[in-house]
Amino acid sequence: MGSRPHVVLGVAGGIAAYKACEVLRSLTESGHDVTVVPTGAALHFVGAATFAALSGRPVATDVWTGVHEVPHVRLGQSADLVLVVPATADLLAKAAHGRADDLLTSTLLTARCPVLYAPAMHTEMWQHPATVANVATLRSYGAVVIDPASGRLTGADTGPGRLPEPAEIAALTRDVLARGGLPADLAGRRVVVSAGGTREHLDPVRYLGNRSSGRQGVALARTAAARGAEVTLVAANLSVEPPAGAKVVLVLSAAELREAVLAESAGADVVVMAAAVADFRPATRSESKIKKGEGEPTSVPLVRNPDVLVELASRGADRATVVVGFAAETDDVLAHGRAKLAAKGCDLLVLNRVGDGVGFEVDHNAATILSTGGEVEVADTSKDQLAHAVWDAVVTRL
Ligand code: CTP
Repeated sequence: MGSRPHVVLGVAGGIAAYKACEVLRSLTESGHDVTVVPTGAALHFVGAATFAALSGRPVATDVWTGVHEVPHVRLGQSADLVLVVPATADLLAKAAHGRADDLLTSTLLTARCPVLYAPAMHTEMWQHPATVANVATLRSYGAVVIDPASGRLTGADTGPGRLPEPAEIAALTRDVLARGGLPADLAGRRVVVSAGGTREHLDPVRYLGNRSSGRQGVALARTAAARGAEVTLVAANLSVEPPAGAKVVLVLSAAELREAVLAESAGADVVVMAAAVADFRPATRSESKIKKGEGEPTSVPLVRNPDVLVELASRGADRATVVVGFAAETDDVLAHGRAKLAAKGCDLLVLNRVGDGVGFEVDHNAATILSTGGEVEVADTSKDQLAHAVWDAVVTRL
């Protein structure tokens, strides 16, 4: 790979083609060299001038331009990654069958680098056995096919088929480039991830909360899905979008989170408790808003919440094969981490050093992954890369 990774961004003919512009912008801003290859149909949705201006490069539209440079072979050969946004049902079908009747499909057939597809289409098309088979074929060839999001599609229909958020596609692109591809080593595995921070209400408007944004948990869910897992995200008050392709269960309090995690993780292969769960909740919750006229409160009586991680780790027959906890420590980090791993009974403990501006509400993180067998240091890295390091450690234990 050169100093600037060369990405070929294929754009197929669907209404989501306009969102490819946002992915393109994000990639060029993060220093990627992007050549856009729209299909003829894509150009009905977005003009070549837009792609040229955003990429700062000429747009390759057909195999008959610059024939002496053999673009249908050269582009695929020189790419560090080929990304298709949106991948329509037709494009997936052609790619799965090795068709090469235009510049994009020829590029896909000659590419030996990682290939990433972000599909978008109507729900019926996505769920048709032909598309299901084509996606399975492409995955068996090593391509990463992101599951589409559920939500509103063009027109009045809703259901799976929506293009994942451009930021999510760009994040996965960076992941795949950083790791030179993504293994499907979680295929067939059921994974539950909790993310975010719980809120313990004093009354309908006030709560005790914490600073967790849910970024690390969302990164874990997104990367697990990209590595083939069936993912449930138990999401407590996230300040970021949940990933496409994960089942999302929304919760507010520690009690709701506990109920959801215990229900969802029965029979799961892996449970990761990345959520910041409140250890205590107010002893009473007022049904109506507490007025300041009701006397001077001097303290808020608290009661202990059950420890979900301990419950998960000590479950009997339906204990997940791998139970992963998180710990945030400010001092004596390793000693506290080792003690916590033992006390919680989990298989892996991801140990974060936190303090002002470190660990919370930021995109990078440094951690140690502890297990009874040893420890793996993950240097200051993105939350996505830390998530991959966690899955690497999980996979060795499955
Ligand atoms: N956890 C949980 N249930 C709780 C509290 C925490 O499952 N009621 C989980 C978190 O999701 C995380 C891990 O336990 O995976 C964090 O451990 P915890 O002991 O809560 O850390 P701290 O609150 O930092 O503990 P302490 O203050 O004792 O260091």
